[in-house]
Amino acid sequence: MQHFLKIDALSLDTVHQLIDRAEAFKRGSRKCYADYRLVTLFYENSTRTRISFELAAHHLSIPVVHFDNAASSEKKGESFEDTLANLQAMGLHLFVMRHSQEDFFHTLVAKASPAMHIINAGDGKNEHPSQAMLDLMTICAHKPKAPSLKIAIVGNISHSRVAHSLMALFQLVGVGDLVLVAPKMWQPEALPFGRVTDSLDEGLKDADVVICLRIQKERLLSQEHIDLLSYKQNFSVTCDRLAIAKPDVAIMHPGPINRGLELTSEVADSKHSLILEQVTNGVFMRMAIIDALLSKT
Ligand code: CP
Repeated sequence: MQHFLKIDALSLDTVHQLIDRAEAFKRGSRKCYADYRLVTLFYENSTRTRISFELAAHHLSIPVVHFDNAASSEKKGESFEDTLANLQAMGLHLFVMRHSQEDFFHTLVAKASPAMHIINAGDGKNEHPSQAMLDLMTICAHKPKAPSLKIAIVGNISHSRVAHSLMALFQLVGVGDLVLVAPKMWQPEALPFGRVTDSLDEGLKDADVVICLRIQKERLLSQEHIDLLSYKQNFSVTCDRLAIAKPDVAIMHPGPINRGLELTSEVADSKHSLILEQVTNGVFMRMAIIDALLSKT
């Protein structure tokens, strides 16, 4: 692998290898890449993704620098492309990038030297591939038989880069039944895999895994008015509503969570919740991604 940009670029073998590597790192396996340098460039806010990539690099003995957009020379008119070219000229190798622009990496990849590896840490509403990979790692640890699983993704599907990456990944690994639950205005424009409903009960009935999504107020268009009270009544995952799911249902959320909106605190903190396990696994999955890029496998 030269870059890590989108799920469609991964083969099923690569997906399994990344999960195996991440599990090995979780068991304590270590590698050293001290001759490489990683930079995080986040043009949108982040807690989990940025810090877990930085921690992953530390565990692999890779020095990390953080690009502070607000204090950078882009504020003096330097272009995004020139910023990247200058960072590359300083000898940085791994570029972990989040940007509101979808497919921001296309022109960069065309100009990148062989020593440069671009990692997509979220491009607009398009993809968040490392999140999908850590989610799959977490599911596999608890429920390894993908073809027998019913997975429900609930919330703002159309604006969710996580949902878009998960759809592609669940199709690749052959999840038995993927149900996308959303109000009509947030249902996906294209449906490569799965079925869509605006009925939370249809999604939750006999579900093995329920993935809640954030509303993402920052991506709503001016014409998209959301009545939060009505949204909560129809789409908030509560203990009562979960009663129709499988008894061992797993609750997931990529974070950040809005307690009392996408799901109640009672659900988020319940024994069914894998939300913090997802965060823990994020460090190991991101180590696996960096390892795969630097070992060119
Ligand atoms: N899941 C996720 O991308 O979280 P952050 O926005 O905190 O990185």
